[in-house]
Amino acid sequence: MRQAGRYLPEYRAVRAKVSFEELCRTPELCAEVTLQPIDRFGLDAAILFSDILTVFDAMGVEVVFDPSPVVAKPVRTVADVNALRFAPAAESLHYVFDAVRACKRALADRVPLIGFCGAPMTTASYLIEGGSSKEFAHTKAMAFTEPVVFGQLLERITTLLVDYLRGQVEAGADALQIFESWGAAFAPEDYRTFVLPHVERLVAEAKAFGVPVILFLRGNASLLEQAKGTAADVLGVDWSIELSRAIEVVGRARVVQGNMDPLTLFGSPEFIEQKARSIVAQGRAAAGHIFNLGHGISRHTDPERVRHLVDVVHRA
Ligand code: CP3
Repeated sequence: MRQAGRYLPEYRAVRAKVSFEELCRTPELCAEVTLQPIDRFGLDAAILFSDILTVFDAMGVEVVFDPSPVVAKPVRTVADVNALRFAPAAESLHYVFDAVRACKRALADRVPLIGFCGAPMTTASYLIEGGSSKEFAHTKAMAFTEPVVFGQLLERITTLLVDYLRGQVEAGADALQIFESWGAAFAPEDYRTFVLPHVERLVAEAKAFGVPVILFLRGNASLLEQAKGTAADVLGVDWSIELSRAIEVVGRARVVQGNMDPLTLFGSPEFIEQKARSIVAQGRAAAGHIFNLGHGISRHTDPERVRHLVDVVHRA
């Protein structure tokens, strides 16, 4: 999760030459930064370098990264929603598919490549809020006062995301991850009512492309029960719950991914080793466990700590 990025000096060297937007739109550079953590640490999978907000290109919505995303004209009214265009992904997001192909060429089957997208609500929240948010006031206001409009918006975004994921698999992605980073914005009952049906459809339709689908529903532990009901092959777990408890919730037949607090990497090598070993031990109760951080890596992380973590996990 953000395994490429600003904590790596070689990434910062690329970013010194191009903006984040330009980087995302230049397939050869995407491949270069996608491989940086693979080359450096010997990780077991690569995640495509891109962003969940590139899909705004298909909607005619402009977003700049400063470094947090800023949408100039947030989408808040019925008229705003109706004004969105939904172009085919092949038309407006071909540079992402080219980046997938460039990554696959550069990886030459060393490790699998994970393609990804945001979940419908997380994606919509950036549109509606105009950027990152703490309260998600506009998003929830739209869901609670204009449920039909909110539902239509999520419906249309979901259809675009399916098209986008299909393009990534056709270009060579070996697995797909769906990021619901802001699931906790909604109370569990509201999540079930306003959001979950769209996630269920996205996962079910993505599954038809024949590659494993990972659903990372970050939020509070109770949303795991809802994630469990989807068709996802792998359920991502954040660090708000012990992995052993998460496995009890989703069932031992499920493959789980997670769940180290990324800031564990700020601790001593001994602390990191102890936490990693605990998570690996807990993961053995599940049908499968992909060791991962419970959210994106901090830009202030020392890469040597990451190397230590990868080595510990490989030895465990
Ligand atoms: O993991 C990887 O190596 C792949 C690359 C990747 C990025 N964003 C690159 C990025 C992935 C998988 C994402 C997903 C993403 N983007 C999510 C879901 C995962 C999560 O972290 O919750 C979300 C919510 C976004 C939206 C987004 N993009 C935000 C909120 C920001 C600003 C964050 C910050 O740390 O400043 C971005 C920018 C972004 N996306 C950066 C990177 C490396 C930093 C920008 C830079 O290089 O200047």
